[in-house]
Amino acid sequence: MLVSGKELFQAAKQGGYAVGAFNVNNMEIIQAIIEAAEEEKSPVFLQASQGGIKYAGIEYIAALAKAAAEKASVPVALNLDHGTSFSQVAQCIRHGFSAVMIDGSQLPYEENIAITQKVVDVAHPCGVSVEAELGKIGGVEDDISVEAAEATFTDPQEAADFVERTKVDALAIAIGTAHGVYKGEPKLDFERLAKIKEAVDVALVLHGASGVPDEAIRKAVSLGICKINIDTELRQAFTRAVQEVVRTKPEEIDPRKLLGPAREAMKETVRAKIRLFGSAGRA
Ligand code: G3H
Ligand code: ZN
Repeated sequence: MLVSGKELFQAAKQGGYAVGAFNVNNMEIIQAIIEAAEEEKSPVFLQASQGGIKYAGIEYIAALAKAAAEKASVPVALNLDHGTSFSQVAQCIRHGFSAVMIDGSQLPYEENIAITQKVVDVAHPCGVSVEAELGKIGGVEDDISVEAAEATFTDPQEAADFVERTKVDALAIAIGTAHGVYKGEPKLDFERLAKIKEAVDVALVLHGASGVPDEAIRKAVSLGICKINIDTELRQAFTRAVQEVVRTKPEEIDPRKLLGPAREAMKETVRAKIRLFGSAGRA
């Protein structure tokens, strides 16, 4: 069933686990995530990034995701990932999204607060949860690119002020992760995470989680991370599976024989993440 992100955030916060949020661009990815969540009896976020919306069109993404969520035996929230404007948020709400992220992290602090407040004002009366971002997460995700030198970690005191003034449901924090493929092993600032957790009472979100070692993910969850975003590792699973078919059966011309194994591979990736995040059996 389709539920508000609020419901998933509250349950995760109380239960001490994190819900996986996986980026979707087409039917096979959506099916892989939903099948994995059902097999693991786990709540899950489907989310559409800027690139996903551009690629598939918001109508297709919303219709596919809503059909999947309504049919699912587990709670599913449909989230806008890294929303860039108020009008995009409004458009997503109109298309039935049950959660939105407004990413004002590139803006000066007061402007980030102002746009986030405006989004909360329209989303909350619609039963739609709001995630914001404070600090700048490095790396590249579709159109959003932050140089390593520009990335800035979230300040715990600023986080407290931000949450109090905006009334967001969830906060994406910068503690050392980055979008895309890591060059070296990412080092997470757990002390900062603990301080942020102490300073605010909202769900904390970890972006750029592909490629972060399992041990670090477990520790982040134990310190209060409630939602974990994964995109790159799904892309890798999809592409490796397609490449394998092309390599072993170069004469294959049926798209389903390429996309089917890709769907299966993504499903296994999602199942492993769900178990790692501690949300298996929580639906
Ligand atoms: O918002 C989406 C994510 O933060 C995904 O990051 O591609 O590094 O897994 P990732
Ligand atoms: Zn992200």
